[in-house]
Amino acid sequence: MRRKIIAGNWKMYKTNSEALNLVKKLNIRLKKKPAKKSQVVIFPPFTALSSISQELKKSKIQVGAQNLFWETEGAYTGEISAAMIKSTGAKWVLIGHSERRQYFKEEEKVINRKIKLALQNKLKVILCVGETLELRQQNLTKDIILNQVEWGLKGLKPVHLQDLVIAYEPVWAIGTGKTATPNQAQEIHNFLREILDALVGGDMGQKMTLLYGGSVKPENAAGLFSQPDIDGALVGGACLDPVSFSKIIEAGEKTF
Ligand code: 13P
Repeated sequence: MRRKIIAGNWKMYKTNSEALNLVKKLNIRLKKKPAKKSQVVIFPPFTALSSISQELKKSKIQVGAQNLFWETEGAYTGEISAAMIKSTGAKWVLIGHSERRQYFKEEEKVINRKIKLALQNKLKVILCVGETLELRQQNLTKDIILNQVEWGLKGLKPVHLQDLVIAYEPVWAIGTGKTATPNQAQEIHNFLREILDALVGGDMGQKMTLLYGGSVKPENAAGLFSQPDIDGALVGGACLDPVSFSKIIEAGEKTF
């Protein structure tokens, strides 16, 4: 059975005190209704990683960073290394989110370097892939996804892939309220498994955890989770509300 994951990407929201407040509320809800079938991972901003990891020491919720730099250390003003992230207690890192690709011009080569560095440092990675509306309308969704996965996995050995999760996040569904339908998401997840089988072999397509992201809400979560190739969600907006996020986790408990 593949590992199921419900992840929350906080993006650039929550000061330290707000972050602690949110995580305490989430923790209380999860103590009442624990996530037994899925691993919950939250991705707060860098500034809250240490305090949140501390707060969650006895909890099953895991913590991750939203980005990292591609070099081990050095004169790179403003950047954050894998070792720094690990020292906060975080175990995960998000790489290649479409907002990083769009606003910070992160290209495939850079994303691949970041993945390698994260895995070398024993951080688990969620690699985000997805097409823009323009590319979907040109029927190029599968081409772009294939390209992003090919680049992401370049130079990785199958053994590394046990610490890698792929999240399919169609750019047109992020923050727009327009979720991909369960069928649209399922089609791409199935395609991702075909790509993994072709690129890696060893039944990797069936082994890897694949998440869907893009306007996941309590109302649409169960429909997505009931698809055979969708192993969970990477939630944006709805994870900033402990009630909505825990309802999404509960949808997983009922559906997985
Ligand atoms: P929304 O859930 O706000 O659409 O964001 C999805 C996302 O970008 C998660 O990484």
